Amino acid sequence: MQFSSALIHLLAGYGVLVYGSQPIERPSPLNGTVSENCHRACASLSNSFGPDAFHYPYDDSNFTIWDAKQQEVRPACRVEPSTASDVSNIINTLVSNWCHFAVKGGGHSRNPGDSNSIGGVTVDLDRMTSVEILEDGNKARVGGGATSYQVYAALDAHNLSFVGGRVGTVGVGGFTLGGGTSPFSNKYGWALDNVYEYEVVLSNGTIVTASESRNPDLYFALRGGGNNFGVVTAFTVRTFAQGPVSTTLVTYASNQTEQVLDRIYDLFTDEQLTDDVNMGLDMFYTYSPDEDSFTLSGTQRYARPIRNPPVFSAMDQIPALTRFNIISNMSSQTQESEPLGVTRHLFATLTVSPSRPLLSQAVNIFEEEVRAISAVEGLVPNLVSYALSRNAIAAMKQRGGNALGIQADGPLLLILISTAWSDADGDIAVNTMTGNTIARIQAAAESLGVANRYLYINYASAQQEDEIFPGYGEENERRLKEIQRAVDPRGVYTSQGLWRGFVKLL
Ligand SMILES: Cc1cc2nc3c(=O)[nH]c(=O)nc-3n(C[C@H](O)[C@H](O)[C@H](O)COP(=O)(O)OP(=O)(O)OC[C@H]3O[C@@H](n4cnc5c(N)ncnc54)[C@H](O)[C@@H]3O)c2cc1C
Ligand SMILES: *[C@@H]1O[C@H](CO)[C@@H](O)[C@H](O)[C@H]1NC(C)=O
Ligand SMILES: *[C@@H]1O[C@H](CO)[C@@H](O)[C@H](O)[C@H]1NC(C)=O
Ligand SMILES: *[C@@H]1O[C@H](CO)[C@@H](O)[C@H](O)[C@H]1NC(C)=O
Ligand SMILES: *[C@@H]1O[C@H](CO)[C@@H](O)[C@H](O)[C@H]1NC(C)=O
Ligand SMILES: *[C@@H]1O[C@H](CO)[C@@H](O)[C@H](O)[C@H]1NC(C)=O
Ligand SMILES: *[C@@H]1O[C@H](CO)[C@@H](O)[C@H](O)[C@H]1NC(C)=O
Repeated sequence: MQFSSALIHLLAGYGVLVYGSQPIERPSPLNGTVSENCHRACASLSNSFGPDAFHYPYDDSNFTIWDAKQQEVRPACRVEPSTASDVSNIINTLVSNWCHFAVKGGGHSRNPGDSNSIGGVTVDLDRMTSVEILEDGNKARVGGGATSYQVYAALDAHNLSFVGGRVGTVGVGGFTLGGGTSPFSNKYGWALDNVYEYEVVLSNGTIVTASESRNPDLYFALRGGGNNFGVVTAFTVRTFAQGPVSTTLVTYASNQTEQVLDRIYDLFTDEQLTDDVNMGLDMFYTYSPDEDSFTLSGTQRYARPIRNPPVFSAMDQIPALTRFNIISNMSSQTQESEPLGVTRHLFATLTVSPSRPLLSQAVNIFEEEVRAISAVEGLVPNLVSYALSRNAIAAMKQRGGNALGIQADGPLLLILISTAWSDADGDIAVNTMTGNTIARIQAAAESLGVANRYLYINYASAQQEDEIFPGYGEENERRLKEIQRAVDPRGVYTSQGLWRGFVKLL
């Protein structure tokens, strides 16, 4: 493995991830025509925002977004608010003209239209990136469009950090509204359980605050309910003292796979290991078309500047093919990024209780399905797994609890099938491979008695959309729908209204 690609993989942990398909029934993103309503809305926004913060697509060549399928989308226009009151004015304009729109945080969604509007208005939060440290460094107020990197960089300067993404370009917005599994999650929980307060623009343009004590129902709903309730213009998040972290990427020869899976399973489940809350382990099983081979690798994360922390010593007994360690602050570890908008991606996911036999079955299923599509141009498929640790599950119960409805005491394992490829010609093959892999691992999990209803919204494919909120449990789904109707009685933020992308409750 070349140093540079290994470095990106190490730093990103996602360097070669993938995502979302384009469902056949969606309009072709390049062919969408712009409605009269959206023409009028854009003309009005153009007047209020002027040439700096308002763009028609023919004059917006600098705009980039992570997935090539979203990059191909043509909105009617794109607008960049700077304040909550700008966002409120935009929502009022869109509603009064009845023009559909999408909201872009960090833009890491994979379905066309999720954060770049197909023929409507793209509300791009990319100017709302301020980071203000509050209360002696225990909290920070972060703009709704900030990226993980921007927040890490602002906090590193004060020896602080927060529960952010593994990759710097990932937006705090979508990441936190859906869940947010972080290198720091074994210690502090997921991002959605580390937000004290949200500033939100509702569909009638009102700016409200949601916290445990103010609008507690909305606060509950924002902890996992995604983009169904409002545009979050600021998150007040927990910050904590943090110095440099140690990250080590280790790859293994294929004849070591079973032995390494034994150790990974221990790191996911053994309380003696998981009680070391500084520890995190990301598992990757990656196909390389050039070598026609699969490589198992582990990203060993440690939230202290220790090169070989003892928690990994059993794993480190196994001879490695390659090993890279970096000790540095979070901003430098998340700064590397691949060019945006050039690669197609699909993510799909399932959740299971830990099972050692299932890990072996999953990698075997993945191998078979990937080999069947190995001719796809630019193919880079990954099977990724992380633990949702006992500590992170316990943190979900703080401050009234979140909306995810996770019932286990833990741990659980998230499995993510993440594939990158280069041409639209490969879309069907990758969708088929991903769908088959998930269905077969799900069936294997059911026969082992380890299946779980929860699906992580931020890793789900468009095909899984209808299973996500039911996976939160009947009671939570019902409560979320009730809160949605209460804060947005006209249904502006539903699939029948104007903000239709991503995963809709109603
Ligand atoms: C390279 C890569 C690395 C990743 N790493 C991780 C990881 O380490 N851990 C993890 O848990 N997930 C990770 N993810 C998944 C990630 O959490 C989701 O893709 C998430 O939705 C991205 O949020 P975003 O703001 O970047 O994307 P966007 O596409 O901008 O947003 C996703 C959805 O949320 C909405 N939204 C965004 N911001 C706001 C806001 N302020 N107010 C209201 N709605 C908003 C958008 O409208 C959109 O519908 C990763 C994804 C990629 C592609
Ligand atoms: C646009 O529509 C035409 C006619 O239906 C079709 O041939 C073409 O492939 C479409 N273009 C895209 C980019 O989808
Ligand atoms: C693109 O960005 C460059 C550099 O910031 C700027 O000079 C240029 O005007 C931008 N082009 C457009 C079309 O906005
Ligand atoms: C983070 O680490 C990088 C690389 O070591 C360094 O250049 C940068 O100054 C550090 N940032 C802060 C805020 O300490
Ligand atoms: C951060 O920690 C480093 C190393 O301990 C120290 O030199 C520096 O002064 C600290 N910076 C701040 C702003 O406290
Ligand atoms: C495993 O594979 C590696 C590299 O391909 C080789 O060097 C090693 O001898 C093999 N070990 C065993 C036990 O077969
Ligand atoms: C906006 O909607 C909220 C929630 O339904 C409501 O409390 C508020 O009074 C509304 N504001 C206006 C100005 O109508």
